[in-house]
Amino acid sequence: MLKIKGNYFLLETKHTSMLIKGDERAEYLYYGERVPDFTGAEWLSPETYWQGADHPLSLFTQAGRGDHREPTVSVRFADGSFATDFRFVRARAAARPAAEGLPLAYGEAKCLKLEFLDEPSRLKLCLYYTAFTDSDAITVIASLTNGGKKPVEILSLASLHLEVWGNDYSFTTFDGAWGSERRRHTRPLECGKCETASYIGSSSAFRNPFVLLGREGDVYGVNLVYSGNHREFAESDASRRTRVATGINPCQFSWELAPGETFFAPEAVMVYGKTAGEVSLRMHEFVSRHIIRGKWKDRERPVLVNNWEGTYFSFTREKILAIARKAAEAGAELFVLDDGWFGKRDSDTCSLGDWTDYEEKTGGIESLADEIRAMGLKFGIWVEPEMISEDSELYRKHPEYAMKIARRDPHRQRNQLMLDLADPQVQGYVYRAVSRVIAQCKAAYVKWDYNRFMTDCFDRNVRGGEYFHRYILGLYSVIARLVERFPNVLFESCASGGGRFDLGMLCYMPQVWTSDNTDARERTIIQSGTAYAYPQSTMGAHVSASPNEQTGNSNSLQTRFHVACGGLLGYESDFTKLSDEELEEVRSQIAFYKKYRGVLQFGMYHRLGDAVGGEWSGFITVARDGSKAVAVIAVPEKRTSEFNLRVRFAGLEEGALYHVRYRKADGTLVSVCRASGALLLRGSFPLQDLFAETDVHRFSNPLYTRMFVFEKVAPRKKRS
Ligand code: GLA
Repeated sequence: MLKIKGNYFLLETKHTSMLIKGDERAEYLYYGERVPDFTGAEWLSPETYWQGADHPLSLFTQAGRGDHREPTVSVRFADGSFATDFRFVRARAAARPAAEGLPLAYGEAKCLKLEFLDEPSRLKLCLYYTAFTDSDAITVIASLTNGGKKPVEILSLASLHLEVWGNDYSFTTFDGAWGSERRRHTRPLECGKCETASYIGSSSAFRNPFVLLGREGDVYGVNLVYSGNHREFAESDASRRTRVATGINPCQFSWELAPGETFFAPEAVMVYGKTAGEVSLRMHEFVSRHIIRGKWKDRERPVLVNNWEGTYFSFTREKILAIARKAAEAGAELFVLDDGWFGKRDSDTCSLGDWTDYEEKTGGIESLADEIRAMGLKFGIWVEPEMISEDSELYRKHPEYAMKIARRDPHRQRNQLMLDLADPQVQGYVYRAVSRVIAQCKAAYVKWDYNRFMTDCFDRNVRGGEYFHRYILGLYSVIARLVERFPNVLFESCASGGGRFDLGMLCYMPQVWTSDNTDARERTIIQSGTAYAYPQSTMGAHVSASPNEQTGNSNSLQTRFHVACGGLLGYESDFTKLSDEELEEVRSQIAFYKKYRGVLQFGMYHRLGDAVGGEWSGFITVARDGSKAVAVIAVPEKRTSEFNLRVRFAGLEEGALYHVRYRKADGTLVSVCRASGALLLRGSFPLQDLFAETDVHRFSNPLYTRMFVFEKVAPRKKRS
């Protein structure tokens, strides 16, 4: 909802409200749990404006009007000056802008457009605040329009600047690296700035754009609908204000705005909750309803088997068929042929860019796909379309397609270069090449990979400071056309695992390969971190071989399955190596997952315990109607005091009665008790002989897990 009363504006979501006042400059008056109306709002305005121009709780900051902090809107005029004086002009209900070329949230919403003008230059700043009324997010799109006669250089335009009162906040970021993505880090905000940013062309495994600003009772989650270089910062100051901002990283960014042109910054999302858990639930709801789109939005996702960790590059047609046959026997629904099927690709040294069948190896990709389909499986394929190997037909023919700078030896990563997707000709090539692959093997699923950082950015037709952003716009234009052309295909994005897990990619591709690290122990941390911002329907999670390829830790098949149930279940190993007993166990896992995947993939997800250093951690996902739930508890260490390890659940219906069972490795569900939702939410429960089922001497550095299934039952009638 959007309500306007004079120069007061009230944005309302299901449970939250934001109050903005527009006078000379415009300011935030309130953002938090829902309030009934405007009554009392005038009292929230500051008593005095400190130093006149240093405005409290501002919607943006600028240079040249006395604000002592970094400006979030910053330009250089043709005469070399930087000062701006954006003044509030008007605010009104408006349509959301199309922001051509950028991915945006969509759906039922109310938009407030606030306009600010820098009179001397006629530069106009617009902020579009959108309240998504059926969920709990407010988004902002910022734009600059050059109404003057000379070009203006944009140096930075933050998508969102949010300020709140108080300097007792902490700042939480989700950082990592390849194989250890989105680890939660929290530090108190004292005077000064704290930031997280990416500089490598993608949202990156190092720094996710999702951040939290929180204190006891108030938590703000902020995310960016963007896949390129981003920066988020939080800052507390002596005026008892704390601010958080997000947007395109201003480092190595500038954009020339010609007279009459408008530049749109990527859309930013904010969510308020009383706890981080509430923020996650609200973020999940928003992402599921207003970011994910297309046929697969609410559809249960297939259980897949991928050959990567099973074979790497060395496979034959026979091997692939043998794995697929076992996958079909186990009840999987989709087989994914990973890297190595094209060009002359027997290693990572060649062929990227040559998206043609490696016939000697596949025996013909079309007939291979047909044979796999005849087994009752769908067929999916891996591509890495943004890349080029120097040893490829494409490079020999079009060396100019590669991203490099004349007279500089380009930096190689995984032996590959990137394609210059800022160039429309290269965009056209990639679109045609991937379309051909999908059509040729009638793929039902495509894994879109991206395995290096951007370096040596250059295109003779692109201004240096615009390159990173123009690349991302080029990427978006290609994938937008592809998903439109192949609406039935399920796309999963990947960037050496979870190196581009962001809301931008999710606008086109509904799921992401969360991490190349498939170790159950590590995955509990990675998935728990990821789930702060992203729902489980977006997180690819696979059972792989034990000992784990990346860490050497070994775990029972059951533990690996339990952890993979935290996301979209798949398997990633050589199925021909499974013993009959193991295959039987996998069959019962898949049968269980299919029965409960509605709640596992789309239920309301609550983190339990603490995955980062806690004695135990886990999750419970509860069906939206409260009728059932599945919880997985993970214990990282066997200690002598294990008999006192107790857990508490969340998200269940207080007033309901649940039949609680736990799942054994052979698939049987063992009855534990009937318990009220209220008790399950408040009591501390033992883990049902957690260690008994795992032979502690068989595994090295194992993770101990227990899965519980909750089913609502009608209360027993009292005998009269
Ligand atoms: C990346 C992906 C893996 C796999 C390989 C193939 O590392 O994250 O899942 O597809 O590439 O080369």
